[in-house]
Amino acid sequence: MKGSPLIPFALIALIGIVLMAVMSAYGVNERNALEEEENGTGEEETVEIDDPIVAGEELAQQSCINCHGGDLAGGSVGPAINGLDGDYSAEEISDIIQNGIGSMPPQTQYSPEEADAISEYLLSISE
Ligand code: HEC
Repeated sequence: MKGSPLIPFALIALIGIVLMAVMSAYGVNERNALEEEENGTGEEETVEIDDPIVAGEELAQQSCINCHGGDLAGGSVGPAINGLDGDYSAEEISDIIQNGIGSMPPQTQYSPEEADAISEYLLSISE
């Protein structure tokens, strides 16, 4: 009787704390990705476009690794994506990056050209 009016408040406080923790974790990831982008010089960007596999690796390091693991061999959230050859064509991987698949959200931060570069990189590291 005495404690019961407090329970809803405790629940709301708990939800708030969890939400804030989740949101700040995302914010830190995004800031790291932005900083990485800003640290690259314009010159490097031009070289990257010349070589989609080099560009793709760098782009994959910006966000795919968050879910698929640092070596793309599977993370806490996503499955391994370092052995996709035979499972998906480059076009299909591009499509997955841009539109998501199952519980993977669309990675809209990448342009279609960047998604193609990542696809080529993933197929290049596939056995
Ligand atoms: C927010 C976490 C998250 C991020 C970021 C993410 N993925 Fe995923 N990805 C997933 C999850 C979860 C799945 C499994 C989806 C399912 O089957 O329900 C998945 C599945 C995939 C698949 C299909 C794998 C298979 O064997 O069927 C590919 C390909 C893929 N991701 C590529 C990428 C690439 C490339 C990037 C970076 C551009 C990326 N993902 C970023 C979570 C993520």
